[in-house]
Amino acid sequence: MSALTTDTSAIRLAERAAHLPPSATAALDAHAKQLIASGVDVINLTSGEPAFSTVEPAARAAVAAVEEDFTRYTPAAGIPELRVAVSAYLNRHGTHYDAENVVVTAGAKQALHYAFTVLLEPGDEVLIPAPYWVSYPHMVSLAGGVPVEVHPGPDSGLKITPDRLRAAITPRTRVLLLNNPANPSGVVYTSDELAALVDVAVESNLTIISDEICDHWVYETEYTSVAALGRGVAARTLTIGGVSKTFAMTGWRIGWVSAPAPVAAAISAVQSHTASAPSSVSQRAALGALTADLSGELEKRRAELDDRRRTTIQALDAAPGIALDTDPRGAFFVFADVSGTYGMRAGDRTINSAADFAALLLSEANVAVVPGADFAAPDHVRISYTVPSDRLAEALDRIAAFATGLTPAP
Ligand SMILES: Cc1ncc(COP(=O)(O)O)c(C=O)c1O
Repeated sequence: MSALTTDTSAIRLAERAAHLPPSATAALDAHAKQLIASGVDVINLTSGEPAFSTVEPAARAAVAAVEEDFTRYTPAAGIPELRVAVSAYLNRHGTHYDAENVVVTAGAKQALHYAFTVLLEPGDEVLIPAPYWVSYPHMVSLAGGVPVEVHPGPDSGLKITPDRLRAAITPRTRVLLLNNPANPSGVVYTSDELAALVDVAVESNLTIISDEICDHWVYETEYTSVAALGRGVAARTLTIGGVSKTFAMTGWRIGWVSAPAPVAAAISAVQSHTASAPSSVSQRAALGALTADLSGELEKRRAELDDRRRTTIQALDAAPGIALDTDPRGAFFVFADVSGTYGMRAGDRTINSAADFAALLLSEANVAVVPGADFAAPDHVRISYTVPSDRLAEALDRIAAFATGLTPAP
């Protein structure tokens, strides 16, 4: 092996990067894809994206952008017409954003990173309701903040309550991070539940970062945007979103943050010094998606995912040892408690954790799911139901057969 592969003596990594693990969900997804590429018939239920194609108007707008040679730097906050389109798009939920409130970024992930960068002083605490999306604590730490997990109570359906939040607040608490619909649990907070959480943030003068990337993917319930709750909430809220999930455009890397204008200006300044701006072609694609009438197509897609969600819930409910302690009405995940399988064996191996469950489900039944430890829920697994219906049905059959075939350890 060359020194470039093994020698770590000449370059010292900064503390903030030295122990930073890569995204656990991305690693699992990559592992499942590798097995599939090597010919194993794995059904991959780890994915965090809908398995639809990019909506057509976006693709067409991108082709036109290339043909017009729209391939130069854009303004740091994004092309003006896209900022207008994003604000109009957000306001369908009852907010009152203008173009000056919007900064277009390379995905919602980068928007979150910028948000923490402009808000946090070293040691500032960020309340993160658990279970949470894997990247949040790392993003907070990278920006010099301190992630503080807020765990839901028993029998809460994995939703946090105002009391739980209040108990976690210290003089160093600066930000409340909300994610609705939630990854990984798939739960959707009602507007009353959100209002009660927001009241706690107002009482303690916290800034709210509201990650609403899955706002389109809600079923059998209404969606509420935090910044639309009134009572001055928008003035203390940064709303995060993007085209990735709604329009099946994860690879185009277009997201946004919408915030009071001075905050948006600070974020734009950071972007100007780091990324310059998001891709010009992708911005045109996003503009194509946001300005076309896609309501029919998006409704059709939502109905398809809703169908798969119901099928998944039904199958998991019937599987021995697997319990659903949430009401998953959002995103594209069912988060299942598998602690009922602990002490059971598959072949000669015993399940003692959700990680064991996921590893054995992959090796014995060729189904990949994400164990919950990195989401701060070590007894759960996240099951993504975005794969096509026939593959999902096959995966659910395999899970049922796996669960039924487990035997008590001697
Ligand atoms: C809760 C949540 N927020 C943000 C993101 C990032 O979205 P984007 O692909 O637009 O960066 C994801 C993607 O998995 C997510 O699940």
